[in-house]
Amino acid sequence: MRVARLQSEIDFDGWRDAARALRAEGVAPEAVVWTVERELFDFAPVPPLNNPSVLPPCGEGGPRSGSDGGSVQGVLAAERPHPPASLVPPPHEGEGKTFGVPAAFIDLARTVILHRSPERLALLYRILHRLERQPRLLDNPADADLAKARDMAKGVGRAIHKMHAFVRFRLVEGAASETPRETYAAWFEPAHRVTEAAAPFFVRRFSNMNWSILTPDACVHWDGERLTNSPGADPADAPSEDAQEEMWRTYYASIFNPARLNPAMMKQEMPKRYWRNLPEAALIPELIEKAQSRTETMVAAHPAKPSERVLKAALKHARGSYGEGNLTNLEEVAAGVHVCRRCDLWRDATQGVPGLGPEKAALMIVGEQPGDQEDLQGVPFVGPAGRLLDRAMAEAGVPRDRVFVTNAVKHFKFEPRGKRRIHKTPDRGEVQACRWWLDAERRLVKPKVILALGATAVQAVFGKPLPIGKTRGQHQALDGDAQGLVSWHPSFMLRIPDHDAKDRAYAELVADLRLAWKMAS
Ligand code: URA
Repeated sequence: MRVARLQSEIDFDGWRDAARALRAEGVAPEAVVWTVERELFDFAPVPPLNNPSVLPPCGEGGPRSGSDGGSVQGVLAAERPHPPASLVPPPHEGEGKTFGVPAAFIDLARTVILHRSPERLALLYRILHRLERQPRLLDNPADADLAKARDMAKGVGRAIHKMHAFVRFRLVEGAASETPRETYAAWFEPAHRVTEAAAPFFVRRFSNMNWSILTPDACVHWDGERLTNSPGADPADAPSEDAQEEMWRTYYASIFNPARLNPAMMKQEMPKRYWRNLPEAALIPELIEKAQSRTETMVAAHPAKPSERVLKAALKHARGSYGEGNLTNLEEVAAGVHVCRRCDLWRDATQGVPGLGPEKAALMIVGEQPGDQEDLQGVPFVGPAGRLLDRAMAEAGVPRDRVFVTNAVKHFKFEPRGKRRIHKTPDRGEVQACRWWLDAERRLVKPKVILALGATAVQAVFGKPLPIGKTRGQHQALDGDAQGLVSWHPSFMLRIPDHDAKDRAYAELVADLRLAWKMAS
């Protein structure tokens, strides 16, 4: 029996050196015991992070990430007489002790080693051993060893993704630092040993702040210039609560749409094992419990009646007094919207929802169409997407009461599903028919800037589709001396499950609102 000892659980270089030496000697997979040098983890524990003197902790000497090319210690190293040849090409050397290995296997092995399964080191060596006789082994999708390794790699990929999504930094009060930058720390328990692999993402994302991520396996620290690591820590080493926690909870509660609740999907996207370190998770049981009654309240809500003045104007409209260009104020537009039959959407909707805001506003925001709540209340952007828009506007310093907020299409298009009404995107004909009202609003309000949110609004405002990701931030001249801008629709953020993409889109919406307001002011 041979014992192969690695310096750490994720010591890929160590595994590769050991495997290479074992192969060179022709040692069978069943004859190898793989172990990890436990004593190498016996570093002094990281002092608590709420003690400012420890930030950033020293990174030297932590468990090896597998990329430093150091040599394996222990039995194998001692037994190895010559520096070994590489496992990756040089290509097959016939009778020799080395042979070429597909680069895809090396990539797979680098990922699999991060899995927590104690089996992984032996499994990788077994595949390596078999590759010598079966060079096309990687092409066999039915092979049990490979299926297991690929499953492990998938699990590792998922764990990295979840770490990117669910790390929540907290401010470390009074942390000592040579720069005036704030210092943050997060406690996280990854499903696999992915801390170092996940870290470069946080460097890219939070390069402007000092931060540490503490996990039971390893800690990573960023000081603005260098990424270092140190041994695993304890939850007590991380700060437990900060002022931003409340903001997270408010945000989460405001974007939670009870009518869209799907607990199974939610648990799949945000598995329970991560909840204890997510500030917003404390709200989840209550939000789920109340979802049914909140949905029923939404469904049973009485539609708001249009005002007497609007009804009077509608009557006038019905008598045919409004022709093109006859609309002289926003009340008449509202009345016209109310009795509009320019397309079929009026049939199922409760009422038409005209734009809302000052008669003369420098900024006009155009959404897609009223949602369930807007249809009942007769007011644009008052449901979940509206709440998110309100928050983004507040963050961007845009006062809603000085902005004219409207939609490309004025009636709610939906599909009934049970008691719920599920949003349906309006088609081009409906958008074209409703441009009549949007154009009237534009003519009367005369905004300096029009911000179109989402593809439908872009089509209505610019008369053509534009790729939002590529064109946001660039203004374009529109009829009537207005400048047009585009951004993401808040509903888009409510729908994307990926936390990072959601955060990115939200930050971009805030930036676009800020720009629109600056141009309008
Ligand atoms: N989505 C929109 O586009 N407009 C609204 O008014 C509400 C949701």
